[in-house]
Amino acid sequence: MPVYKAGRIVERNRLVSRTKSTERRVLRKPRRWPKENTPLGIVELDLLYPIKKRVAKLAETTEPVVVDWGCGKGVAAAELAREVPKSMVYGFSNNSYTHWNKVLHGNKLKEIHPLQNIKFIHADATDFFRYFKDGSIDILYSKLGICHLKSQVEYIKQLIPKLKIGGILLTETGEVKSYAPLIGNIAPKMDERNRPPHRYVVDVYHQPDYDLEFIKYSNRIIIQRTK
Ligand SMILES: C[S@@+](CC[C@H](N)C(=O)[O-])C[C@H]1O[C@@H](n2cnc3c(N)ncnc32)[C@H](O)[C@@H]1O
Repeated sequence: MPVYKAGRIVERNRLVSRTKSTERRVLRKPRRWPKENTPLGIVELDLLYPIKKRVAKLAETTEPVVVDWGCGKGVAAAELAREVPKSMVYGFSNNSYTHWNKVLHGNKLKEIHPLQNIKFIHADATDFFRYFKDGSIDILYSKLGICHLKSQVEYIKQLIPKLKIGGILLTETGEVKSYAPLIGNIAPKMDERNRPPHRYVVDVYHQPDYDLEFIKYSNRIIIQRTK
């Protein structure tokens, strides 16, 4: 499974380069999704969380690791990497996109500088766990990505150990029959969150290793690893 990063051309699967100087091109058409280029601002509004602000805050003391799970063309991931140069951003997707080239290598004509602090991982959901060590991720967000998986609740549960302690996971959920694998049978505590520009009510489920906030009216989940 290839990883695409600045300064290196990888020949694999659908992506090939004819010569070193030519850009890679897509041979087979990837599956088309209705939305593949959501900007960061919309991702933040949809997931009800100020991602950039949190990453910038973390960057004051560390080099935060961020994963955009199901990154599509990588528009939001690139924006984040550009705005917080101390972060390391990984776009993860089982489709690959020629747009990744523009992000990685820049575009001189449009004065877009190449980004060194972003990588794209072209792999399927099941392979995600091979790329990240336990306790290595500060923020994992997924806009229209994880919610497409059939067993998304079990999958989210498997992702939690990949977070650092204090790390967070943000995602929408699609059609879910039961959240039991994530929340057990305990009753939630209702709470309020003020995360500008959002103010909303959440159901909080305290688990031994993490807290899960469920934003009922919009099926959004925010998980923070606590142990
Ligand atoms: C609808 S697009 C969303 C793209 C981007 N987040 C946005 O909002 O513009 C879905 C993304 O999730 C990825 N995806 C869907 N199912 C996947 C799977 N099983 N494994 C890895 N990536 C997957 C797709 O490749 C694509 O990048």
